Amino acid sequence: MRALSPYAVSLYTGIVSICVFAAPKGLVCHFGVFFMQSDNNYMSRALALAARGRGWCSPNPMVGCVIVKNGIILGEGWHERAGMPHAEVNAYAACGNADTAGATVYVTLEPCNHEGRTPPCTRLLLERKPARVVIAMSDPNPHVCGKGAAVLREAGIRVDIGLLEVSSRQLNENWITYMSTGLPFVTAKCAMTLDGKIATRAGHSQWITGKEARKHTHEMRHAHDAILVGSRTVLLDNPSLTTRLPKGNERHPVRVILDAGGHLPETAAVFFTPRETPTWVAATKERDYPFADKVFVLPATPDGVDMAALVHTLGEQGITSLLIEGGGATLASAFEAGIVNKVCFFVAPKIIGGREAITPVEGIGVKHMDHALPITELEAHTIGKDILLSGTLELKN
Ligand SMILES: NC(=O)c1ccc[n+]([C@@H]2O[C@H](COP(=O)([O-])OP(=O)(O)OC[C@H]3O[C@@H](n4cnc5c(N)ncnc54)[C@H](OP(=O)(O)O)[C@@H]3O)[C@@H](O)[C@H]2O)c1
Ligand SMILES: [Zn+2]
Repeated sequence: MRALSPYAVSLYTGIVSICVFAAPKGLVCHFGVFFMQSDNNYMSRALALAARGRGWCSPNPMVGCVIVKNGIILGEGWHERAGMPHAEVNAYAACGNADTAGATVYVTLEPCNHEGRTPPCTRLLLERKPARVVIAMSDPNPHVCGKGAAVLREAGIRVDIGLLEVSSRQLNENWITYMSTGLPFVTAKCAMTLDGKIATRAGHSQWITGKEARKHTHEMRHAHDAILVGSRTVLLDNPSLTTRLPKGNERHPVRVILDAGGHLPETAAVFFTPRETPTWVAATKERDYPFADKVFVLPATPDGVDMAALVHTLGEQGITSLLIEGGGATLASAFEAGIVNKVCFFVAPKIIGGREAITPVEGIGVKHMDHALPITELEAHTIGKDILLSGTLELKN
């Protein structure tokens, strides 16, 4: 999720504190609207269901839905894959023959009101006549925003919006960015030692983190549409850049390799493992890459491929999320181009030293601390023996 402005944060904090202070027992307040604690619980459940679609439903958002009547959950569902039924449809299907009229529907995103690959969910809701629909967040698409809720209200259904909105936005940060900018949401990831190195002085980096952190990395790969590395990482590590999770639970991202200098070997593992997962090359000159699935010839910068042009191209190709896995030169040029939305840096409790050893962000760097890139919403999580530090960046205009 992009950072809120300091003004919005203080306004929000102010409203929340007033509401928390003023909220009668058993009620919770979100953005100035009161909800029952039970509403909160059902929406939390809907969010957990939504997250089951992570990776699978791209380029669509993750959405979850819970249908409740007289304190009993009649059905629940989530959007499982793009092109398949929406969460509301699955939740009503799960209700079977139960009488759903007069129920409360908890849904994490405003129900759609337009004909897409599937019929509008508002039509289904109007047929099934719920008494109330509780929505975590409005549709961020300005052409769609509020229309689904308006149709339901016109039919006399009570609609409450904003319950657990922050969590819902966080869940769909990739999709919201892509919807509003046409650009993929970019996450810069690295694994570094406590002394800030991503490889030894000889370029050896396998493995810096433990198996739990590496499993987390595979979950991140699963959740992203594409993964990017520089040509030196391919030359030194020869990675396959695939997702290694239990069979059937993994989605492989499209692999994108930067190769301005034409050093990428034809025999690189990314071209062969597995063959059905595409590998694209971003170059600055026309060259023959016999095993690449696509080659993009993009403008050059002193670093190599123009990273801003690359994310535009990836957006045009329908890539909604990009995981940059390094190395140091690639991350430096991504930060320099101002394309990074989020950082996920794993820190391993190891020291390897060496002034020649590569750091996560190489390049020239800034001269004054005033020009350091600020990271907000910093979070730290222990994963196995390692720590994952994540946070968001303000993008350059
Ligand atoms: N621990 C970790 O998380 C991690 C992750 C990845 C890699 N690594 C380690 O990092 C090391 C490699 O890092 P590195 O910094 O030497 O190289 P790198 O970032 O992997 O690759 C840099 C190369 O990519 C090409 N390139 C094209 N366009 C570029 C652009 N806009 N910006 C930057 N590079 C561009 C350039 O080569 P051409 O001129 O040939 O195009 C450049 O030399 C390896 O030792 C690897 O093991 C560690
Ligand atoms: Zn829908």
